[in-house]
Amino acid sequence: MFSITLFVSFIGMCLAQSEYMTVKDGWLKTCQIDDPNFEACSRESIQGLFRQLTTGIEGFTAIDTIDPMKLNRIKIFQGEGPVSINSSLSKASVTGFANTEVLKSKVNPIDYSWETYLFVPKIRIEGNYHMQGRILVIPLNGHGKCWFEPKNMNITLKTKTHLYEKDGHVFYNITGTQVDYTLSGLKLRLDNLFDGVKVLEDSTNQYLNENWRPVSDALKPILAKTIEDILLVILNKVFHYIPADYLISDIARPSTLYG
Ligand SMILES: *[C@@H]1O[C@H](CO)[C@@H](O)[C@H](O)[C@H]1NC(C)=O
Ligand SMILES: *[C@@H]1O[C@H](CO)[C@@H](O)[C@H](O)[C@H]1NC(C)=O
Ligand SMILES: *[C@@H]1O[C@H](CO)[C@@H](O)[C@H](O)[C@H]1NC(C)=O
Repeated sequence: MFSITLFVSFIGMCLAQSEYMTVKDGWLKTCQIDDPNFEACSRESIQGLFRQLTTGIEGFTAIDTIDPMKLNRIKIFQGEGPVSINSSLSKASVTGFANTEVLKSKVNPIDYSWETYLFVPKIRIEGNYHMQGRILVIPLNGHGKCWFEPKNMNITLKTKTHLYEKDGHVFYNITGTQVDYTLSGLKLRLDNLFDGVKVLEDSTNQYLNENWRPVSDALKPILAKTIEDILLVILNKVFHYIPADYLISDIARPSTLYG
């Protein structure tokens, strides 16, 4: 059993913006799902979207950039299994998504849900943590600064979607996200563990780094869920702004699709 509370905010979120992109931007690559080369086209299109989300989309003020991505506060509670923990991460900054490589983009031709495969060579998460509990057999109690560096992340993202129509445009409503990932390494540092008992802090950090794989495996369900929740917020901001028919010109009308 676990729960996650998210307080996600992005720089510039308070600024006003127009409701959606009324004229298609030139950088947006449009594909046709009936085209036999749709998958290659869609991969390029989503890669372009990542590029633009890094430098910023003109008129779209909900997200200035995804690199660095600022997260206000994430609270994680998990009561059972190898990880039993109460923790929070605040004022977090996530860097690395500028180098996201879109490996594959599949769109289901029946319901238009997606399966996206991403590769991110290096991510760094920095912030302030509060933690009480244990991971594997290691007790962890403390609060202070922390950082995490997952290496070579392969992310599979599956999204459930519902289409809706506005002003003659079709839009995606993302109703669910499912994330799985693998990584080839994880470095981390938790400052001020055990309220400043330096010897314990250093030996525990060393142990966590030396045993990064079981540590990362134990944390995976909860981290995947956290990433899913964050992505749900981000993707909905993006796709309530960009009409789906700018990405897939022959996308079905919701009235036709749902009857
Ligand atoms: C987490 O916090 C809850 C409520 O404050 C408490 O009941 C629980 O024992 C805590 N769990 C751990 C692992 O510290
Ligand atoms: C999107 O779906 C959610 C439920 O997942 C719903 O509450 C919301 O009203 C929907 N938004 C639009 C614009 O259809
Ligand atoms: C990620 O996926 C790529 C391409 O499928 C593969 O070559 C690589 O070994 C994978 N890396 C990890 C860490 O799983």
